[in-house]
Amino acid sequence: MQTVRLPDIDLAVEDQGSGPPVVLLHGFPLTHAIWAGQIAALAKKGTVPICAKHPPGRSGKWGLSPFSGRCRMIAPDLRGFGQSSITPGRVTIPQLADDLAAMLDALGVSEPVVLAGLSMGGYVAMQFFQAHRQRLRGLVLCDTRAAADAPEVARARLQTADRVEREGPGVLADAMLPRLFSPATPVRRPELVEQVRQMILGGNPRGLAAAARGLAERPDFTDLLPRIDLPVLVVVGSDDAISTPEEMGALARAIPGARYVQIAAAGHLSPLEQPAAVAAAMAEFL
Ligand code: MLT
Repeated sequence: MQTVRLPDIDLAVEDQGSGPPVVLLHGFPLTHAIWAGQIAALAKKGTVPICAKHPPGRSGKWGLSPFSGRCRMIAPDLRGFGQSSITPGRVTIPQLADDLAAMLDALGVSEPVVLAGLSMGGYVAMQFFQAHRQRLRGLVLCDTRAAADAPEVARARLQTADRVEREGPGVLADAMLPRLFSPATPVRRPELVEQVRQMILGGNPRGLAAAARGLAERPDFTDLLPRIDLPVLVVVGSDDAISTPEEMGALARAIPGARYVQIAAAGHLSPLEQPAAVAAAMAEFL
């Protein structure tokens, strides 16, 4: 990890490989570490198996890809998360998107990037399209949604934010862990659940609370989708209980020309649960 100095905070950033830049944005309340499998697969030269078919609503077939390129994989801990600085109070999605533009400036990345975001990272990616379209070459929207919070969801988030500040990130681990994974994952790979539990527990309560307050007031991106004029890959775990395949399928259909890939045996954290399959879908797209 390196520290990237922005005007008002420091961001911790994983920056590996060289070639066309790909920026990876994590979900709430996690860190860049959820993308470890894709960073490892796509930052180095080698053949990545690709998804040869991706009909909407079905899992693809797997084959060997001609992708033997190499990308510069840039994965920050967003403001308030992981090893990055926190700003207490409220951190909005537009703020997180502007942080990315400042991060790219600080890293000297002037060419357009492919921006991949999981869940909250997807909200930031859509916001980045809205505010910094000229810096983008393509988008990967992973286990996310376009709609804003319904009023009762936003109210619950604000209450959760206050509780996290009082009681710590265990509140989030208890509430979220049961919904993050495909049903088979806790049985077959309990260590993965433990890894995510530790990731959540390692968060700074004030940083997480600030982000939760920002999520509660995030923009609704539904009307933006038909205006996205870039190549877009939509990825969803077949067992995602938070952003379901139905919701992600509708999101993909609303974006002109978007590709849609369903990842078998994955829930909301598809890059972590099925790293090779998600890396393969990205390799084909890239
Ligand atoms: C995430 O994974 O980032 C969260 O599920 C986003 C949210 O709570 O809206």
